[in-house]
Amino acid sequence: MDRQSRQLMTLHEISKQLGASLDLSKTLKGAMRVLSDFLEMQRGTVALIEGGEVAIKAAHGLTIGELQLGRYKLGEGIIGQVAKSGYPIVVPSIGDEPVFLNRTGSRKDVIKSNIAFLCVPIMFKREVLGVLSVDRLFADESISFDNDLRLLKIIASLLAQHIKLSRQVEKEVQALRAERDTLKVALKGKYHLENVIGKSPSMQEVFESVHRVSSSKANVLITGESGTGKELIAKAIHYMSPRAKQPFIKLNCASIPEGLLETELFGHEKGAFTGAASVRRGRFELANKGTIFLDEIGDLSLGLQPKILRVLQEREFERVGSERTIKVDVRIIAATAKDLVRLVSDGEFREDLYYRLNVVPMYLPPLRQRREDIVELTAFFLNKFNKENSKEVQISQEAMNSLEEYMWPGNIRELENMIERLVIMLPDKIVHWRDLPANIRTMSGGLSAHRVTPLNQVEREGILDALKASDWVYAKAAKLLGITPRQIIYKVKKYGIGRGIS
Ligand SMILES: Nc1ncnc2c1ncn2[C@@H]1O[C@H](COP(=O)(O)OP(=O)(O)O)[C@@H](O)[C@H]1O
Ligand SMILES: [Mg+2]
Repeated sequence: MDRQSRQLMTLHEISKQLGASLDLSKTLKGAMRVLSDFLEMQRGTVALIEGGEVAIKAAHGLTIGELQLGRYKLGEGIIGQVAKSGYPIVVPSIGDEPVFLNRTGSRKDVIKSNIAFLCVPIMFKREVLGVLSVDRLFADESISFDNDLRLLKIIASLLAQHIKLSRQVEKEVQALRAERDTLKVALKGKYHLENVIGKSPSMQEVFESVHRVSSSKANVLITGESGTGKELIAKAIHYMSPRAKQPFIKLNCASIPEGLLETELFGHEKGAFTGAASVRRGRFELANKGTIFLDEIGDLSLGLQPKILRVLQEREFERVGSERTIKVDVRIIAATAKDLVRLVSDGEFREDLYYRLNVVPMYLPPLRQRREDIVELTAFFLNKFNKENSKEVQISQEAMNSLEEYMWPGNIRELENMIERLVIMLPDKIVHWRDLPANIRTMSGGLSAHRVTPLNQVEREGILDALKASDWVYAKAAKLLGITPRQIIYKVKKYGIGRGIS
């Protein structure tokens, strides 16, 4: 084959290699292989500019160890110079060329021979992406370098386009990956309820059931301490249900005197009792086609329980003082902070009523058991009350730390009220630790700087930890602590430390 056909073949093969994949290290190696197979290249490298350095990415005729050594600063050595200037360099005889940097140490054998070294920039438009360098392509000494150089330039421009393209694709892939990851994070709070905060796993479970049950008519019983959001969740279920446009009627079973509760629930006829001057519709009637929320159901008197049970079973009742049966279509959501199971076993709550109510149970854990939500809840309430009061109150990190540590016996309601108070009362824009209510400051301790822990206690805990860590071998624990075994025995006695005591 003559020289020209070999050059064409080479170009064809290289473009085939470059088209086969977008994996740069693979394609560049492929291109190098073509150069050595089709031409008479002995050694060759492709180096790319990365972070201000030129690093060899693919090579032929270099060992792995040599490959790793091949990093140059811009302007350093021939490769570095080409990378910096964007101009090719031809070295007719490596042995004579002072700027030739034998960085890889691979040419010791040939250093004095007449071998040529050709180095061309890999350029895309005006940007130097890297350097393609080869020992002379053709063994034939009679052929001018110009010819080799021209071919190399063409190859370099093929490489440039390919590098640019694969980098672009890589960038896009990374952008997509980043987007996917942020979406994943967002999806961790996969179940979203309007104005209800809850990324914690326990709340996500609640949100998931809300989504599941809202379309049905099933009765729901929400339990959880006061202030955990039972009413909020009841409303969420209603407003996500097909009944959203129908009424949501609330009745607090604890706040209405027993004598009045029946008329509250079922209404009364005119003249049903003294003072009943007109007809009155009860909550069940008002809630027709909608949802009735029976709050504090655990406080429902034993006398009224069968009446409620009947509505639950038959969806019908009579107004007080009337024989006429009224049929209603209501969904019932009940809530209680009390332990209904216990009330049932104590005979204070009817078992049949309990099972009727508890078709779908939902439990809202206390805030102290989902502390990961505190930061977001705080931000949510700050935002809410800032808006309401046209303020811009923010919270300091040390104050936030305290809120995250505090026990919150009043749960979210307590947090909400405290933030409202702070936003209204605070002259400053920042809530500092010292601005927090005293109970929060003392109960949480705040930053360790604020925490006054008796030294004795620290020492005691340190000794206990060391003993646990050393399986109660005193000598080992003493060594850990840097004290003598005698000292540790003394301290153990002093603090009354023993296994099973913490
Ligand atoms: N997850 C939450 N996200 C935002 N606000 C909440 C959340 N849980 C409760 N709240 C708010 O806290 C207060 C107390 O909630 P509520 O539903 O009345 O509690 P409960 O009925 O359990 O006593 C309400 O103002 C409510 O809007
Ligand atoms: Mg409530």
